[in-house]
Amino acid sequence: MSTDKYIQHGGILLPSECHSAESLEFAHNLSVEDTNVFVVTFPKSGTIWMQEILPLVLNGGDLTPIQTIPNWDRVPWLEEKRLAFVVDQLASPRAMVTHFPHHLMPPSFHTSKAKVIYVMRNPMDVMVSSYYFHQMAGFLEDPGTFDEFMEKFLEGRVLFGKWTDHVKSWRHKELGDRIIYITYEEMVQDLPAALRRISDFLGRNLSEETIQKIAEHCSFKTMKANNMSNFSLVPKVYMDADKSPFFRKGVAGDWRNHFTSEQLAQFMSVISKELEGENFSLPYLD
Ligand code: A3P
Repeated sequence: MSTDKYIQHGGILLPSECHSAESLEFAHNLSVEDTNVFVVTFPKSGTIWMQEILPLVLNGGDLTPIQTIPNWDRVPWLEEKRLAFVVDQLASPRAMVTHFPHHLMPPSFHTSKAKVIYVMRNPMDVMVSSYYFHQMAGFLEDPGTFDEFMEKFLEGRVLFGKWTDHVKSWRHKELGDRIIYITYEEMVQDLPAALRRISDFLGRNLSEETIQKIAEHCSFKTMKANNMSNFSLVPKVYMDADKSPFFRKGVAGDWRNHFTSEQLAQFMSVISKELEGENFSLPYLD
């Protein structure tokens, strides 16, 4: 692996294009406020989707932020370089996304009452989505063959480490009712229902009309056409939609079109073993 594309932090790999020692220190020293809201995802689980949803739920459906601010500045990544530039301009209450496992969160997060929405996606679909993302993202290593990428994914030699470590870390008892768990699959299946859960959790009392409006503006089709969210503002050398669009398929279960039965058996045997004793199940396995 060429070292210049990645840096190591707390035992995990991060792309150096978006992260630096300074950005990680900035994240570590951030003073997290009780009113802050964090969306936590393992990469390719629905992060950009939540960057569209969250401002609308928090502000009662006003479309201004999703129509005027690029997603990375609207709900920035805690760990990325951009945060330092936009932190003072964030709307209140502050919303951020992060791919950090629980133990890498800033010390002030642990003592705050900041809320967390953890979005989990079926790991096979995460891997498939990530495989295509590595083909289009010039700041990431070429994924190699599907088999090679699967091996790296299962061993945690990919961005933000092992998927199982990530999901397990966020089942931490310390979080109590500060956290809700949402699946990408439930959002695909019934977005208005997921929006109601998110809105209730954040203490917003949104009318049914507003919920429907948000769902419409956060659909795959609408977001794919939104230049503030579809990464068309990013130069091709970093993200090349001709190789694979960021808004690729937006469905649950695309793994069925990619995994052989042998790969599935191997993948599931590793994942199930690592999730032994955990009290949550994987979405959409049957
Ligand atoms: P696919 O590659 O399977 O299409 P992240 O934002 O964490 O990088 O996740 C990207 C994945 O979320 C991509 O999955 C992308 O298409 C999907 N996605 C983004 N917005 C979506 C939406 N509104 N509806 C369904 N899927 C969406």
